[in-house]
Amino acid sequence: MTKPIIVSGLKPSGELHIGNYLGMLKQAINLQNSGKYKCFYFIADYHALTVKYKVKDKKEEIYRMVVDALAAGLDPKKSVIFIQSHISEHANLTWIFNTLTSVSALERMVEYKEKIGEGQMPNVGLFGYPVLMAADILLYKAKFVPVGEDQRQHLELTSDIARTFNRRFGKTFPEPKAILTKFPRVMSLDNPYKKMSKTLPQGCLYLADSPETIRGKVKTAVTDSHREIGYDPKNRPAISNLVLIYSEFSGLSPMEVVKKFKGVGYAEFKKDLAKVIIKTLKPIQEKRKKLMKNPKLVMKILAEGAKKAQPIAQTTIQEVKKEIGLI
Ligand code: TRP
Repeated sequence: MTKPIIVSGLKPSGELHIGNYLGMLKQAINLQNSGKYKCFYFIADYHALTVKYKVKDKKEEIYRMVVDALAAGLDPKKSVIFIQSHISEHANLTWIFNTLTSVSALERMVEYKEKIGEGQMPNVGLFGYPVLMAADILLYKAKFVPVGEDQRQHLELTSDIARTFNRRFGKTFPEPKAILTKFPRVMSLDNPYKKMSKTLPQGCLYLADSPETIRGKVKTAVTDSHREIGYDPKNRPAISNLVLIYSEFSGLSPMEVVKKFKGVGYAEFKKDLAKVIIKTLKPIQEKRKKLMKNPKLVMKILAEGAKKAQPIAQTTIQEVKKEIGLI
């Protein structure tokens, strides 16, 4: 039996924080380690061009994302890891899919509307972003795509494109299914109503933060005026966020965390929380440091990943070109 194929793209987003890590990345690593799938993971650098960015930062950002992902546990022995733009077939298939996608379907995309609302320039790339994503997925004939809720609509479009293609040109692509994961929604340490993000730096724990920094940020994290630790995200969002983080880093359920710290004050709990974060991040940080110093190794991993992805991508493009009447 051949293993079902999983494809997922990681958007390079600058320095990784624990919200990113506990979300998409950890999920990708778990799927890889399950041994049940053939996983293709790539850095979606073509996607990253669709919103405003600084040219001088981009390369560094992509490199850091690869290093963070490898340090966290993506393993080139188990997964095919590569950079999207190294495989030109992604753009190639996008063009073909563009001709099968209606403008009105893309106009319904919530993420596009949101980005425009945030003041992004409505460029054709941003508009067509979901078509590129469909090409990423179908190029490798993925069966499953691990995504967060926010990407569900894009994935439905991918299935629509696969169906349209199959109907018109013969059965070629599987209709991929989302592995929808409930990511823990990690909130900012200094504002429990906002998602953890680099725009709120004091409340943002980076994967690369030193133990002192982690201790400091956790110490000043907002809590509430109750006397006991509790988990009630709706009514006590600040302390519940800290309990959630403790839970994710320790493997205990939120309720077990609450039980463990019964009768213990916030200051003491925070000390322990910092400890468990520092301990979990330590091996990741050590690996990260080594990789940062060894760009040759990182480049080799990416080149090998591309070497594995390329023939598959080429085969699909050849097949598609035949079916649509180009060759
Ligand atoms: N759009 C995804 C995101 O914002 C990233 C992505 C690009 C992706 N191509 C993909 C995810 C293909 C899954 C499959 O996170």
